This record gives sequence, structure tokens and C-alpha cells, in this order.
Amino acid sequence: MRAKAADMPGKDCVKVAVRVRPFNKRERDAGSRCIISMASNIITIQDPRNGQVPRSFCFDYAFWSHSGFTRDRSGLYVPEEPGGRYADQGSVFQDLGEGILENALQGYNATLLAYGQTGSGKSYSMVGYGPNKGLVPTLCDRLFQAIRANQDSRQCQVFFSMLEIYNEQVVDLLSRGSRTPGGLRVREELQRGFYVEGLRRVPCDGAPQVEQLMEQGTRTRTTAATHMNANSSRSHMLIILQLKQIFCKESITKQSNINLVDLAGSERQRASGSEADRLKEGTAINLSLTTLGNVISALADVAVGKKVVHIPYRDSVLTKLLQSALGGNSRTVMIAALSPADICYEESMSTLRYADRAKRIQNRPVVNESPTERLVKELKAENARLIVWRKSGEAKSPSCLKAIQMLWEQHLQEALKDWEQQYATITQERRMMQMYPYLLNINEDTQLSGVVKLFIQDGDWDIGLSDSSPRSISIKGLGIQNRHAVFSNVQRRVSLTPLAGSKVIINGTLVSQKTELQHLDRLILGSNSTYLFIGYPSERGGDDWSRYDYDYFQSELAAAEGIHLHTLCDSGAGPGKTDPSLLAVFYDYIKLMPMVAEANQMSQELQKGVEFKLEIKNLALSDSKGHDLEKEIAVRVTSQENKQVWLWSKAKFVNRKFLMEELYQQHAGEGAGRAPMPRDRDPFWDPLEPLLLGKAHLWLQSLAFRIALEEQLEVLGSEGTEEAILQVQLIPCNPTGLPLEEDDILIDPSELLGRRLDFQLVLDQCCGLRWIKQARNRGIQIGFRMFNSAQPFYTPAVWHNVNPLLDQRVHFTSLHTSQGLLEHLQTSALVLELWGLQEGCRDMLSSLEGVKMTPEGCFIIDRTETPDTPATLDPVPEVSCSMRALQLDVEELRNTNAALRTENHTLKEQLNTARTECGRGRSERRGSSVRPSCDAEFARALKVFYHSMTSVRGQLQRLRRHRPSEDSDLLGLRLFVDEQSGLLCDFSELLEQSVSSLKQDVAAIVRRKRERSGIWP
Ligand SMILES: Nc1ncnc2c1ncn2[C@@H]1O[C@H](COP(=O)(O)OP(=O)(O)OP(=O)(O)O)[C@@H](O)[C@H]1O
Ligand SMILES: [Mg+2]
Repeated sequence: MRAKAADMPGKDCVKVAVRVRPFNKRERDAGSRCIISMASNIITIQDPRNGQVPRSFCFDYAFWSHSGFTRDRSGLYVPEEPGGRYADQGSVFQDLGEGILENALQGYNATLLAYGQTGSGKSYSMVGYGPNKGLVPTLCDRLFQAIRANQDSRQCQVFFSMLEIYNEQVVDLLSRGSRTPGGLRVREELQRGFYVEGLRRVPCDGAPQVEQLMEQGTRTRTTAATHMNANSSRSHMLIILQLKQIFCKESITKQSNINLVDLAGSERQRASGSEADRLKEGTAINLSLTTLGNVISALADVAVGKKVVHIPYRDSVLTKLLQSALGGNSRTVMIAALSPADICYEESMSTLRYADRAKRIQNRPVVNESPTERLVKELKAENARLIVWRKSGEAKSPSCLKAIQMLWEQHLQEALKDWEQQYATITQERRMMQMYPYLLNINEDTQLSGVVKLFIQDGDWDIGLSDSSPRSISIKGLGIQNRHAVFSNVQRRVSLTPLAGSKVIINGTLVSQKTELQHLDRLILGSNSTYLFIGYPSERGGDDWSRYDYDYFQSELAAAEGIHLHTLCDSGAGPGKTDPSLLAVFYDYIKLMPMVAEANQMSQELQKGVEFKLEIKNLALSDSKGHDLEKEIAVRVTSQENKQVWLWSKAKFVNRKFLMEELYQQHAGEGAGRAPMPRDRDPFWDPLEPLLLGKAHLWLQSLAFRIALEEQLEVLGSEGTEEAILQVQLIPCNPTGLPLEEDDILIDPSELLGRRLDFQLVLDQCCGLRWIKQARNRGIQIGFRMFNSAQPFYTPAVWHNVNPLLDQRVHFTSLHTSQGLLEHLQTSALVLELWGLQEGCRDMLSSLEGVKMTPEGCFIIDRTETPDTPATLDPVPEVSCSMRALQLDVEELRNTNAALRTENHTLKEQLNTARTECGRGRSERRGSSVRPSCDAEFARALKVFYHSMTSVRGQLQRLRRHRPSEDSDLLGLRLFVDEQSGLLCDFSELLEQSVSSLKQDVAAIVRRKRERSGIWP
């Protein structure tokens, strides 16, 4: 179609709307705060970790759908009070839908895109749920109303198509035939631009028909999703409405394409793009979303006058199909869906930035208008009857329009027949729902939940891949066997018997025996086919089934594995407050759990010989200050044959899972005949790397007093397991490495300031290495980073030994001890990392780059060039403010210290004078002061005290790790409480002992001092 001559393309920016939804269950459970506010069309977002700098964005529309609503009797969400600020589906349509409709009727192409993270409300806005109909159905409804209202002046034809893009493949969701392997082809024509070849276009003449087609499309989508083990990698959905308007009088045809796009969750784009993975380039799963981002960025740059050489439309299927919508012949609206919750800050911020770029894009829409003659030509080619009619030579007579009408009606009749068939199926299904119990599919995507119903009629029914017998219920899915289980429905009681080798989980528990099902039981068949059991109508009552969503299933499963939201979060903030980072870990866990089950199934079927297991990293580990480390999810990968182990980050696993799926689909398509995959492209394989097994803390406080320390440290694994015992020493020494004497012990650590401090770290032996006990062909190294050294230091590798001697001695020197180092010594620990080596992986080497050494070969720490000018270097004003405040405090403390020293000195002088005067000078040392001997006694007492504090600290750690087991009953809990009180008792005894012996020692020293000085009787 060409533009009307008078209607030269004008610039038209992409209109952007944002919509914020109510809290979901997850967010309510987390006690989330709303971090988004709106005033007119300005939206403000607050970083929950930083109270000061909210960011504001201005868009064409901002819809507040977070609060101020109520549910009316028909289930519609409406404003609490008339004129309230809550934006319901109706008002969103008014602002966005009306414009699109108007544009389409004028002959413009129009596009509506919904963008946002998973669960942010894209489908709610586009399609809607139940009575809360979204933009698409309302638009169709209104379109047909408008057509009817204008039927005197024009004849209209509406064609409906629905497709999904999954992994760069286009699937026709309305296709009646079987799926084309590899998907439909996207072609390009000069006039038409990009289009999908062979996509079914269904002629429609009413909104109910469109709704039914959408239902049919959703059903196809759901089946495709369950067949593709793809719960984690979802598709983009596109609805294309084609409107042809034939203006009889003017002999003009206007045509407009309306693209309605519900995109896959935007976090997918970040999840796989964020981390360097060896195989990152290989995955196509997020290509469309990533390319969409690139196209939008490039177009936004063009809009601000930047020189852009290339807009990468051709890089993905989605951007090819949306080429006209972005920077081309279309009026385009983007709706950016947002979660209001603090835990979603990062994603919401990224959505807002994305939307902010999109609003700059300029399109050049034109009215697509052509003489009707052309349409006639197209129709002639399409239909044989027209050929006959052409022979009559009436091409331009009014009967040509009649012929168009006739042909259109014929098409409609065909569609209607199809529709009736579908309708009969739906009616039949509704009847069955009132007669029998059934299984209802539950999907991660709420739009696809409750779409499939599997009826369990009287008698025995096999469920599985096979559909060979008339008494079988055929399902597909990863890990589903040909005959997976048997349902028997006898006397209105339904039970399920798993068949040999199949996996059946009921309400979170693996079952192997015949089990009777109750209404609303949760079933997981195979690795992850999730169903809710709906009992006979008499059992159903008025209960709310919506709580049994995908999260519910996975949480139940996690609980069976000992991972509960409340236990995980107990260790964090106080009661009633949940630490958002722990919550994020929990939800990551339940999100990855089914993916891990699927990866295991694929590994098994593809005979990859590796096993995946979820792990919570840093569950029991702390940093050098003893603060809990941020927890995160990792996946432990173990090869079953030779026990090699890898630890993958969440992002890497997610990326690999996509690749595994691709490989699995290929395998399913090509069977055993396919060529073996080279190892370096195999998503199940990675080169071996050293593995962090655990950490031990060596507290440095004794160094501040120049007291030697010898310790047996417990090396704790990520989840609190004892990985080994490490024997270490920390020895203050002189520059040549000779240990200091007790006389050198300091009472006041500030005496170290500005002076040289030498000490040696001795790593003697590692005992009881669990890593080596599990497989002898392994080795270990110890790594650590002393104070502010840039590079970690690693001990040489030792292999095959459960109790290897390390015999490592490293000498460190601080030439001028700074306040920073002193504070570090007094408050921090040296974190010793235990690294596991496996045959074939390279050792870790200490890099000496940037390391300074003394001529004697001691490592210099605490080089104080930089810390003196922090304020000018620090870009964050609040941090430099607090730094300055701290510096002032330190300065004040120094002054106080100096004053005390002076006072101390004066007192000592007085003491000496008094002693001389009394003639009882008993100078035992040269230099005649009581201080050295007294200090030595103090120092000894301190040394004892620090040693005993090590045991106290150990006991405290034990207490912190002590938790009741997940499946404890009341008796178990009582036992736990008894143990806990025992541990507490020991702890308090140890602490009492340490403190009281320190008190006694100090009292004795003071007494002796007084006796010696003779001043105070
Ligand atoms: N404005 C709203 N008002 C009420 N409920 C909403 C709103 N927006 C979303 N929801 C609810 O939030 C849930 C998730 O919404 P939706 O399915 O639209 O997310 P989505 O962005 O399409 O996610 P996905 O990327 O997983 O497809 C649904 O249960 C939906 O009913
Ligand atoms: Mg959706």
C-alpha cells in the first residue's frame, strides 16, 4: 500500500505508558514496601537501599493500579470510590486502546507492545484475566462495534492471526495442522516488508469469535510449553489483526495492521547476558528480546541526533516482524508493566530506563490506502470463482464489490464451521467438568494455568506419553514415561498408582504406592508436569483454587527438601521483617528447582552422566568482620563417573539450561543418528576449575598486642559443614623473622601507630579434608588476602592426602602501621579459603604483580599512599561525609590518647620520685620503671584472655549454626531446645571463666604494682 499523496509521513514518537500493579502474594509475604509513586504522568522510583535519591521519569501515560481498588460482585477491579486514582482496565483502554482503534480505522498501522519483567502485569493489560478484560479483547469488541456502525459507508474485513516466537522459531497458534519443524519462515517483500509465510489468517465478524480464537491460541501455547520442557524459557506472543475497509463510493481500500505484542519477561534478557559464560554466544533463546533492546537503543540514539550506522532489525525474528512498529510506518504504543515492590527495584529500574529510551523513537506513519481495484486483483488471484467472473468482463462494475462481499462471506462460513467445531469441544468440556474429577494444569505463566483439563472417568486410566489404548490419558513432558501411572476411579474415589521407574510427587512428597487423591491435591508427574487435582463437583465447595499456583507447588517441594521461607529468613532480620535478599534467594531457589529437575532429566536421557543440585552459597559463611555474607544460589554439577565437580552461578545455569533444551529438542528431532557434539560446545560440559570448598577465620586481634597465636581453625563449607581443620600460627616477629618475646607485648595497641610491625603467618597442616576423603585423586590449596593486598596469596597445591602438611610461612611487614591497619587488626579476621583441586585443573598461582617486598623478602602490607586523600577520590558524597566524620573521631581519639599518655607519664614520674624519696627504689631493670614488668604481666594476662576468647568465639559460632532439623516433631523440638540450652550454658561458662580470670589477673597485677610501688598501702 502506498501513502496518500496529501498525507506525507509526519514524525510521530512512540507513546509510552507505565502501569504499576498491586502487590502479589510473594511481595505481601515479604512485607514489601511500595517504592513507586506517581503524580500525573510522572513516575518516581525509590532505591530501597538508599533513602536519598529517588529517580523520576516522565511518560505519556502513567497508570496507578497498585491501590485504591475494590472487587465488585462480578469480579471486576474498580476504583474504591468514584473518580479514585486507581486505573482499571476500562481507563487503560480509554487512554491507549481508543487511540489505536481510531488510528486503525483511519488506515494507519498500529502496534501495542507490553514490556516488563515476569509477573509484572503485561498479560493482564494485554489479554486480561476473567472479567477484567485487557486491551486486546476490548479492542476487538469495539472494533466490531465501529464496523457495524459504519457498515453503510464501507465494507470491512477483519483477519485474526496469533503466533508465538520461541527460541527464534515462529509457531502458528491457530494452525490446524501439525507443527512445522523449525517453525514458519519469516520472509521479506519490498512492498509488505517482513511477514510470516503460511501464517493462518482467520476471517472474523464478531468479538466472541476473536475471544474463542484467543482461547484456542492459548491452548496451543500451553500444550507447546508443556511439550517443550520450557517452563523457564517462555515465548513472545503476537496477535495480528488485519483490517480492510472498502469504501464503495470512493472505490478506495484502506488497510491497517494492528500488532499486539505480549513479550516474554524482560529479566530473561539480563539473566543470560549478565555473566561471562564460555557458551554465552550460542544461545538463541533471548535473542529476540536482546535485539529488541538494541534496536530501541539505536533508534533512540538516532532521535537525539547521534550517528547510527546500522539498526539491527534483521538480527532477530521479533525485530523483523516489528520493523514497521519501530521507526517505520506505524503508530506505536508501549506499555511498561511494573511491580511496585522494593524487592523488584533492579528490574523495575531497568524497565523504566528501557521505556525512557523507547519514548524517543520516531515513527513515520502513513495511511495505507489504495484503489479497490488492486484488492480485486488480489482476490482474482485467490479464487477461481473470480476467474469465471473476470471472463464476464465486469471488472470495474459495481458487482465487483458484490463479488468481494460474496467471497468474504464464503470465507466467514468456513471459519464459522471451524468455530462451531471448537465450540462443541468447549461445551463438551464444560459438561465433563460438572460430571467428573479432573487434573488442571498449573503453569509458571498464570495465563497458561488452568487451560488443560484431563478428566478421570470411572474405572482405570493409564496416564503417560502413550495414547495407544482407549483407556489412556496422553500427556507430554520431560521425564514422563510411556505408561507413567494409573488412575483408578472406583465408587467416586480416585487413587493414583505410580508405575515402575516413574516419578510422581503428591503434595511435595515422592510416592511409590497407590495413593488416594483428595480434592486440591498437588501432583507433579515426571520432572515438572504440574497438575491440581479437582475432585467431584460435590467435593468442590466454594474454595479459592487460585492460591495453588506454580509458586505454591514449588514451595511445597522446597519444604520437603528442607528449604522453608521462614527458616531461611529467620537468620536475617528480626521477627515480622524479612530480609529482602534472603527472600530473593528463596524465590531463586524455588524458581531454579524445577529447572534443575529438568536438567537432570535431560542429562539422563542424553546420557551426559552429570547431575545437578541446588546449593545456597554462603549460607553459613561470614566476611572478614564476621558479618554474614550475601547468600546466593549456585548449582553444583557432579559427573557421576569420576566425581568431578563444578559450581555454576545462577546466570550460568540458566543460560546452559536454554542450550540444553536446544540440544534436547535437536536430539528428539534427529534421534540417535545425530553426530556427537564436540565437548567444547556441549552445554553439559566445562573445563575443570578449582572449587571454593570453605572458609576459616583467623582473628587478628592478638597481633595488635603483638601476642603470638596458635589455632586449630574449623574450615566451614558454604552450608556449615566442617570441611577440614586448619592448624595455623600468627607470630609477631622482628624484621629478620625472630619471634618477639613476652616483654614486647603491648598493652596499648596504639603504640603501633607509625611504627614497623612484622609478623609471620604459618600454615602448618590441614587435617581431615572431606574433599579428599570423598575422592583421593584430588588436591587442595589455601588462599588468602592479607589486609589491603590486591592479589590473593595461594599456598602450593598438595594432592591425595587427607591430612596434608602445608608448612607455609609467610612474613608480612607494615613499615609504618596506619590507623587503618590497626583498626583492621583489632576488628577483623584473616579469611583463609580452602580451594579444592581436581585432576586436570590448573593450580592457582599467587600473582606478585603490584606486590612490594622488603630486601629481606617480606611482603609489605599497609602502604599508605592512597588512604590519606580519600575525600577527593571518593565519588559518593555521603561516603566521603562519613569518612570525614570518622577521621574527626579518630583525630579526637588520638588527642585523648596523647593526653592520657602525658598524664600517665606524669604519674609515672611522680611514682619514681616518690620511690626515690622513700629510699625504697627497687629498680629491677635498667631504665628504672615499673612499667615493663607490669606491662609484661598485663600482656600475659591478655594473652591468656585472647586464647580463651577463641574458644568462646568457636562456641558462639556453633550456637549460631545450631538449628532444629526441618522435619522435627514436638519431641525433636524439645530435644533441640535441650541441646540449645546446653550449648548456651557452656558458652556462658566459657565467657564467665575468661572474664573472671582476666579480672583476677588484673586485680593481682594491680595489687602487686601497689605493693611494689609502696605508694598505696
Ligand atoms: N493491574 C493489575 N491488577 C490486578 N492484578 C494484576 C494486575 N496486573 C497483574 N496482575 C496479576 O499479576 C499476576 C501476573 O500478571 P501477568 O500474568 O499479567 O504477568 P506477565 O507480566 O504477563 O508475566 P509473564 O512474563 O510471566 O507472562 C496475575 O495473576 C495477574 O492477575
Ligand atoms: Mg504474560
